[in-house]
Amino acid sequence: MITSEIIGTGSYVPEKIVSNDDLSKIMDTNDEWIQSRSGISERRVSQGEDTSDLSVKAAIKAMEAANVVATDIDLIIVATVTPDMYTPSTACIVQKKIEAYNATAFDVSAACSGFLYGVSIANSMIKTGQHKTVLVIGAEVLSKAINWEDRATAVLFGDGAGAVIMKASENRGVKGIYTMSEGDKGENLEIGAKEVKNPFLDEKVDNSKYNYIAMNGREVFKFATKAMVTAVEKILLETKEDLCNIKCIIPHQANYRIIQYVSKKMDIPIEHFYINLDKYANTSAATIPIALDEAVRVGRIKKGDKIILVGFGGGLTYGAALIEW
Ligand code: UT7
Repeated sequence: MITSEIIGTGSYVPEKIVSNDDLSKIMDTNDEWIQSRSGISERRVSQGEDTSDLSVKAAIKAMEAANVVATDIDLIIVATVTPDMYTPSTACIVQKKIEAYNATAFDVSAACSGFLYGVSIANSMIKTGQHKTVLVIGAEVLSKAINWEDRATAVLFGDGAGAVIMKASENRGVKGIYTMSEGDKGENLEIGAKEVKNPFLDEKVDNSKYNYIAMNGREVFKFATKAMVTAVEKILLETKEDLCNIKCIIPHQANYRIIQYVSKKMDIPIEHFYINLDKYANTSAATIPIALDEAVRVGRIKKGDKIILVGFGGGLTYGAALIEW
């Protein structure tokens, strides 16, 4: 059966490290609160690089690892909620910067689940034969969407990018992907866009929107714990796979307590999860590909290993993928 496999990974985070103590100098917070509530110690913050810049650096590493050149790529998908612009898409900007002139390029907006959604689209495109060599990127510059006066959210997020190259495969690779959305819960995690404003507007209409992250943390926490468990169960069922055969789980890196909950609930040793949120905080669509790249490079994932990627996020959205490496 034709499926798709990841043949190379790459990631990039900005150089600037902002510690919890650094944050406590600009807002009413402290290292103890942030560590105990989330597990985060520090995050990377852009010094001017935008989402396409981080994407390009991650993409180049993934291309090197996969041994492909830019002109081999025929589809570029960038998952992001912090694009450089409304248009062109970040994917088109990346296409221009890496000179991938043979590609179709577009963005996917599914917040922290975006990378999984991107992999799902890439997998389907490869299976139908429509595209052969696909670059999937998860990238965010969340620092430009953070309300730096809202301590409840400002301490949780960071900037970064991760990328993979996917190609057709006859045996190894993506064994199954499950994605789901619950749009009725969307108001729990929002980044507003431009408000509706035109010369014909009824002045009485309230269109006021904010263009920074606003979150109902407790509701998202409740959703996340349920969604992660459901997604893992669904993907195991779909692939008829047993949890005991899974070598490594790469979860969305939002909060250590969410991962700990899933670990206990599903009786999966916490060591089976690859966790790096202490270093980078929540980089939304980028957390899973950054963690995947790290896990591959440090040898946590080896050829033949069965792994699960699982995430949740704004939308609200969630999903999981089971991959044989
Ligand atoms: O990719 C999806 C991203 N989102 C998530 O995964 C979020 C999921 N939710 C969470 O991770 C947690 O709900 C949070 C970490 C966001 C918050 O943890 P919590 O245990 O739900 O705390 P809380 O919001 O109930 O706040 C508890 C207290 C409040 O003070 P009072 O009202 O009890 O006096 C907050 O004002 O902590 C206070 N607080 C802070 N204190 C110090 C909120 N933010 C901070 C802060 N530093 N940064």
